[in-house]
Amino acid sequence: MSPVNPSAVIPHSGWYLLAFRSELSADPTPLAIGDRALVALREDDRVRVFDAACPHRGAHLGYGGRREKDCLVCPFHGRRIALGDATRPLSVAEYPVLQWGDAVFARLTGDPAGDRGFAQAVEKYAADFPLVPAVTLPVAVDSAYVVENAFDGDHFKAVHMVPGVRGWTASPGPSGELVVEGEFLMQTSPWQDERHKEEVRWRAIRTNTVRWEYRPRFLARAYSPGVVVTEFGPEGEVHVIVTAAVPTPEGCVARVAVGVRDHQRDTLPVIVAGSRKALAEDQVIWEHLVPGAPERLDGRDEPVVAFREFCADFPAAPPMTGDAR
Ligand code: FES
Ligand SMILES: [Fe+2]
Repeated sequence: MSPVNPSAVIPHSGWYLLAFRSELSADPTPLAIGDRALVALREDDRVRVFDAACPHRGAHLGYGGRREKDCLVCPFHGRRIALGDATRPLSVAEYPVLQWGDAVFARLTGDPAGDRGFAQAVEKYAADFPLVPAVTLPVAVDSAYVVENAFDGDHFKAVHMVPGVRGWTASPGPSGELVVEGEFLMQTSPWQDERHKEEVRWRAIRTNTVRWEYRPRFLARAYSPGVVVTEFGPEGEVHVIVTAAVPTPEGCVARVAVGVRDHQRDTLPVIVAGSRKALAEDQVIWEHLVPGAPERLDGRDEPVVAFREFCADFPAAPPMTGDAR
């Protein structure tokens, strides 16, 4: 895989974290997945996503298009473009959307094969772990690197200074998602107060032994090449981190969203800050990968290889025509 792969600009058929609701400031809002121009419309709490190219002569409906009932009036020649109604002479396709907290997910086909259990996962998590935005960061790297990160056990020690990592095995999930599981080995919880952390540090120095008292489980499920959902933490303290990437001509936009149970809301700022720091650390590596460098993968890279095979199995999204729901 080269650091920026122009072919990755052609979208796959799986889910994307398209935007945070807070990014949809104007209505309609222009968006894109790779080379596919899209437009988002808000209807009360609901977000709808459509192709943005006017079927008459290709004007972008997200730049100056005006909503009128079930149409967008095109800014170029003023024709009324029907929304998601392929029976009308001029219409744009509507795409499946899932909302989970502040995160808006979309995919460019209604083909159930591309779902891989994500719709069910959103249903399972959304009420208990509402997502809030942590990071939106343009990165000059192939979008697949962002989600691949979860499958790369060794990088957590080298890049993010996690003291120890154990396990890290990938296996297919029941709906065709790809699951990776492991454990972090830490002296103390990053969410503990400073006094407790200090005590643990002193005890390690006094006794000259390090005890891995905090061993959070890392359980990540990739539902597409662009979305991975991680359950992180010991039993009772689990929170959810969604790491995602949307391809752009320059690389991708990486997004991280986090969700905690209501009684753990006070940990949210620390998790958000930690996610920002981690992504900035990854970015330095990603943006300096040497283009065309040969790879020599070994047994420790098996989960990464499994993720690449998982990605290769996603067909390209169908071209822009008709109603995709
Ligand atoms: S390009 Fe939209 S009406 Fe002509
Ligand atoms: Fe990372």
